[in-house]
Amino acid sequence: MLAGPAREIARWTIDLTVDPTANVSADVTADLTVDLTVVANRLPVERLRNRWVVSPGGLVAALEPVMHERRAAWVGWPGGSASGLPSMSPRGIRLVPVPLGDDEVRDYYHGMSNGTLWPLFHDRIRLPTFHRHWWHCYQTVNDRFAGLAAQTAGPGGTVWVHDYQLALVPRRLRELRPDVRIGLFLHIPFPSPDLFAQLPWRAELLRGLLGADALGFQTRQDADHFRAAACSLAGAWRTRGGLVHGGRSIRVDALPIGIDTNNIVALARAEKTLEKMAEIRGLLEGRRLFLGVDRMDYTKGIRPRLRAFETLLQRRPDLAEHAVFLQVAVPSREMALNYASTRGEIEQLVGSINGRYARLGRVPVQYQYARLDIDELVAYYRAADIMVVTPPRDGMNLVALEFVTTRVRNLGVLILSEFAGAAQHLRQALLVNPYDVDGVADAYERALDMPESEQRRRMRALRTAAQRQDVHDWARRALDAITAPATGAAA
Ligand code: G6P
Repeated sequence: MLAGPAREIARWTIDLTVDPTANVSADVTADLTVDLTVVANRLPVERLRNRWVVSPGGLVAALEPVMHERRAAWVGWPGGSASGLPSMSPRGIRLVPVPLGDDEVRDYYHGMSNGTLWPLFHDRIRLPTFHRHWWHCYQTVNDRFAGLAAQTAGPGGTVWVHDYQLALVPRRLRELRPDVRIGLFLHIPFPSPDLFAQLPWRAELLRGLLGADALGFQTRQDADHFRAAACSLAGAWRTRGGLVHGGRSIRVDALPIGIDTNNIVALARAEKTLEKMAEIRGLLEGRRLFLGVDRMDYTKGIRPRLRAFETLLQRRPDLAEHAVFLQVAVPSREMALNYASTRGEIEQLVGSINGRYARLGRVPVQYQYARLDIDELVAYYRAADIMVVTPPRDGMNLVALEFVTTRVRNLGVLILSEFAGAAQHLRQALLVNPYDVDGVADAYERALDMPESEQRRRMRALRTAAQRQDVHDWARRALDAITAPATGAAA
């Protein structure tokens, strides 16, 4: 589900007991007992064949503890039919499904969310498409989420909205329920105001967000971009803590998301991870392992990192025998614009590199288009020598944080794009510009030749930095920001 959130890679799956008696079409009437309502495009559960399972994903793992402490509900799309959906998650979170018709999935989800906002907010890595009927559908669907949230939240409760799919929910919800505190966290970047200004519905989208009491962003730059856009395009005014709009104060904070550090460390040390890691290292027969793990998405920079590997092999053809690049691409949004072509381009490049450099029993690029479960993922992290994370733009990038967290022996190298939010924190990575393919290849050489003493020095600092970004702290800080009274006089 979400970046991360919304986590990107297949993770914790816990079986849910299907509750066949759950009446999913029951009227959702204001629930006096709900203190915290999370509103996200997806519910924290998903249907796998004929059972409902907890969705793999960092957001779900992040929010469950804070939700468990409160009486909580989650409003979201079940990803298809809600039939057989239990009324509660295993941790006692009330599930409120938002139904979407096929046309709405096409126009609101694949269209406006992933064909317009996603590429626009990621610096137009692909051209966004602007269609007025997508926008109208986005409004309709956002209204529906807001309506169900309004019926679910208890009096004076807190409603926490997530991500770009639901930018209009805060304002709509405020009209329906002026008594609740409303926050929204944007898991993806907020673009520079010049790029954002291309959106034909820019002022309405900003006014939608400005309906919140508190807005959270991944980085200071995202928060600055938002403030600048809100002032120039929606008539907001700056204050010390954020903005004033329509006579109300709105907090604007940079609140970088993190990972479930303790859980990742425990997995990294688990016996079965060590066994799996030994198995992987055995298969490598002494070759150095470069690793990339991402959702299959053009924002992740899979192609430039493979082109850099090709450049490395051109420079040092002997490495075809001594190094392997394993790229795992997790299937994602296969129906949205540009996703199938991105996959095609990557697969073609893998074929062309291997066509040129493979020898019997020695294939330099190993590619998997598959979901990984968390145990396997952590074993790959531990087995790798060099982790490659090269998005041309990314809100945070949790893979980079997870990788360093698993490096309990302080060895290994992280190569990280300077355009990922994580680069603000992981300063001891080898930071690269993914548009500079030769520069990325230089970083590969540097990583291959890096002495263990330098690896240790860097990795220790990286692990300390990642440890400061615990997702449970993030959730608590974000909730505090939503519930704290707004401060700051107009600047
Ligand atoms: C990103 C977004 C999330 C989204 C996730 C998976 O991390 O920020 O909001 O949930 O990708 O994408 P999907 O479209 O499958 O929900």
